[in-house]
Amino acid sequence: MQKIQVDLHERSYNVIIGNNILKGIGKIIKKYAISKNIALISSEHVTELYENTVEKSLIENGYKVHFIKMPSGEKNKNLKTVQYLYDKILDLNFDRSSVIIALGGGVLGDTAGFVAATIFRGIELIQIPTTLLSQVDSSIGGKVGINHERGKNLVGAFYQPKVVIVDPNVLKTLEFRERVSGFGEVIKYGIIKDRIFTNFLLENYKDILLLKNMDYVNYAISRSIEIKSAIVSADEKESLLRMILNFGHTIGHAIEVTEGYGKFTHGEAVIVGICAAIKLSTDIGILDTNEAEKLINNLKKIPVVPSVNHLDEEKILEAIYYDKKIKNGKVRFVLLNKIGETEIRDDVSDEQIIEVIKWIKELNFDSSIS
Ligand SMILES: NC(=O)c1ccc[n+]([C@@H]2O[C@H](COP(=O)([O-])OP(=O)(O)OC[C@H]3O[C@@H](n4cnc5c(N)ncnc54)[C@H](O)[C@@H]3O)[C@@H](O)[C@H]2O)c1
Ligand SMILES: [Zn+2]
Repeated sequence: MQKIQVDLHERSYNVIIGNNILKGIGKIIKKYAISKNIALISSEHVTELYENTVEKSLIENGYKVHFIKMPSGEKNKNLKTVQYLYDKILDLNFDRSSVIIALGGGVLGDTAGFVAATIFRGIELIQIPTTLLSQVDSSIGGKVGINHERGKNLVGAFYQPKVVIVDPNVLKTLEFRERVSGFGEVIKYGIIKDRIFTNFLLENYKDILLLKNMDYVNYAISRSIEIKSAIVSADEKESLLRMILNFGHTIGHAIEVTEGYGKFTHGEAVIVGICAAIKLSTDIGILDTNEAEKLINNLKKIPVVPSVNHLDEEKILEAIYYDKKIKNGKVRFVLLNKIGETEIRDDVSDEQIIEVIKWIKELNFDSSIS
C-alpha cells in the first residue's frame, strides 16, 4: 500500500494506492470518515461488480451504507442527475455530518463530487475512482462538476475530497479502450515532467495496457498521481502552472468536439493532440526534431481505434476558437522544449494549426496492440 499526499494546507489529503485494497475499504476509511452514515454513489455496472466487496467491508467496520445508483455516461453528467441525487440523499434524512463515497469513473466522481460540494453547503467526500483515467486524473485535484448544454464542465466547484482510494485491480473489469483512454493522461504526465517515466511507459505500454504486470500498472498510476498532485499542490485554483496539464488537450479536445463525443475516447483524442503538440513544438523551433520523431513513432504504437485520416482541419480550428470564447481566454498551447519541460505559448498561428492537423491526418496509429 502506497500513500501520496496532496498538499493543500488545511485541505490536504492522502491518495492511497494498493492492489485489492477495496476489500479492506472499511478499515481504511475508518481513519478518515467521522460519520457512520454513508451514501455510496455508484453506477449500475460498477455497483454490480463491486457492491458486495465494498458493502461487506464497510458493514464489518460499523458503517451504515446506503447505495445510490446513478445513470452512467457523459450525457448524464448534468443537473438532472444532480437533482436526482439530491432527492435521494434528502430521502435518507442525511445531515451535514454524513459522507458521500463516489465509486466509479470520472463522470460519476465529478457528478457525485459536485453533489457533495453543494448539498448542505458541503459534506465529506471520499473518491474511489475505478477507471484508469479517474485514478490518475479526475479524482485528484478537487475539480468537481457537470456539463451544461453549451459546453462540458461549465458548472462546478473546487472541492477537495477527504481521501482518495485507488485499487488498480479494478481495472481488470474495465474495457480495454477505456484503459487506453487513461493511458493518454499517464503518458502526458511523463512527457511534461519526467523523461525516465516516459521511457518506462513507452517500453512497457503493452504490459501496462494488458495488465500483464500489475507492478508496472501500480507504478504507472502512482507516478502519475505524484506528478498531478505536485502540480495541483502548487496551483490549486488553476492558474498558469496547472495549465501544463492541458498538454495535448487544445487539439485533443477540439477533435473530441468535432468528431462528436464518444467517437474518440478522451485519452485517444489526447494522444493525437499530444502528437500535434510535439510537432508544433518542432515547427516553432523549440524542440529537437530527432527527439520529436522518436517520440511520435512510439506514440503511434498506442492503439487509437478511430481513424484520423478524415479529420476536418477547418472545423477543428473553429472548435479551438469556440472553446477559447466560452472560456474567455486566449488560444494557448502547452508545447515542449524537451521531454519533461514545457512552455506555454499563445503565438501559434492559425496556419500552423491547420498545417499540423493536415500532418496528423497522415499519421497511422496502430488500432490494436501488435
Ligand atoms: N475533475 C477533473 O479534474 C477531470 C479530469 C479529467 C476528466 N474528467 C472527467 O472525467 C470524465 C471521464 O471519466 P472516465 O474516463 O472515467 O469515464 P466514465 O466515468 O464515463 O467511465 C467509463 C465507463 O466505464 C465504466 N466503469 C467504471 N469503472 C469500471 C470498472 N472498474 N469496471 C468496468 N467498468 C467500469 C463506467 O460505468 C462507464 O461506463 C469526463 O466527464 C471528464 O470531463 C474530470
Ligand atoms: Zn484530459
